[in-house]
Amino acid sequence: MPQREKFGKFGALMTMAGSAVGLGNLWRFPYLLGENGGAVFLFVYLLCSFLIALPIFFAEFIIGRRGGENCFGCFSKLSGGSKWKYAGLIGVLTPAIILSFYSVVGGWGVQYFMRSCTFELAEFNSLISSVWPPIIGHTIFLLLTAVIVMMGVKKGIESFGKIAMPALFVLVVGIAIYVAFQPGAAEGYRYLFNPDFSKLDDNCIISALGQAFFSLSLGCGCIMTFASYVSKKDSAVSHSVNTALLDVLFALIAGCAIMPAVFAYGLSPTAGPSLLFDTLPRIFNQMPAGEIVAVLFFLALLVAALTSSISLLEVVVAYFVEEKKMERKKAVLMISVFAWVLGCLCSLSFGPLSNVKLFSLSIFEFFDKLTSDYLMIIGAFLTVVFAGWIMKRSDFEDEFLHSNDKASKRLLKPILLIIRYVAPIAILMIFVTGLCI
Ligand code: PHE
Repeated sequence: MPQREKFGKFGALMTMAGSAVGLGNLWRFPYLLGENGGAVFLFVYLLCSFLIALPIFFAEFIIGRRGGENCFGCFSKLSGGSKWKYAGLIGVLTPAIILSFYSVVGGWGVQYFMRSCTFELAEFNSLISSVWPPIIGHTIFLLLTAVIVMMGVKKGIESFGKIAMPALFVLVVGIAIYVAFQPGAAEGYRYLFNPDFSKLDDNCIISALGQAFFSLSLGCGCIMTFASYVSKKDSAVSHSVNTALLDVLFALIAGCAIMPAVFAYGLSPTAGPSLLFDTLPRIFNQMPAGEIVAVLFFLALLVAALTSSISLLEVVVAYFVEEKKMERKKAVLMISVFAWVLGCLCSLSFGPLSNVKLFSLSIFEFFDKLTSDYLMIIGAFLTVVFAGWIMKRSDFEDEFLHSNDKASKRLLKPILLIIRYVAPIAILMIFVTGLCI
């Protein structure tokens, strides 16, 4: 069996953060915040991120690095081959479905990027409801993802993440600073940071938890698979905490770049998925050198989306390569074709297929909700139960504790308590409430 590739320390953080930070932060977070009452959503999202999602991140990281294999392999190895191995299948279907609709949105990014280069930004609704441009974007996006994953873990995935993530950070912060000086921006900050608790409802809580999971790439084997490439010398706690902090920070900065602009330009924060794509071009139109900033921003958006989509593809590829002994290239091709076909259906559901409804949702909405509100939550539940109750306690502690990291000793007990009791109960309660509304 060939030696598995391992990330370097900085590369490991950048690829994990690369998986976490993506369209979820820049596109999904601002519009969910707008749809769910603003600051109150942010408040619940932060609580969910640090109290529930971060401990689950620990659990995934520990299972992944201890197992040192793909998601299915990890569950199988650490459970001694019991039926629990089937829980590892969360790393097959869920990421493949997410990849398909994720790359549709990535494809919109491709179109916006190409058009910003020729200084003609599209009108969002007419773009996504047309047939070919979004499908062409989706195809280009998937191809880019496939090429990077084909190049392998270190040469493809790690090298890309190490350049892409810092560049993205600089750009988004720059836009947020520019927006802060626009007249009317203050209203946006109030909306973002001043919670109105009368707007708190079940929907807000479910969406915030789903978003915390989606944004940290939890419950679908991504973190587990990437952790299996992290060296044993690195601390699990600092990797996990740093990734979660970076992820939340990016969401906040994205909020600060978009919400004040929404108010400054008199747009509606409840616009839904079009929010980012409708707001930002308006800002770029008015900015000095806005055309150049537009090109850079959509490039950054694309890059952020790509670092996430490669993690989605890699989880499934790792399964087929290691469990089914498939050649890497073949596995990449097969999964990409699956994601392409399903993605085309999702893309067409904004146009010619808009009348096709699954449980009264469009095809795109159906797969988005199916994964983030159900499959990822079930995946996260199985992960914490496995880490807290099934895998050997000594394995857990051994991975968690790190000689150079004093915090890991202090955190062990409270984190175990959350993983064993608080997280599973909270997930169950929120999940059941979600089923009833
Ligand atoms: N976390 C990514 C984002 O915020 C999306 C993602 C979900 C990636 C699940 C991998 C797994 O964009």
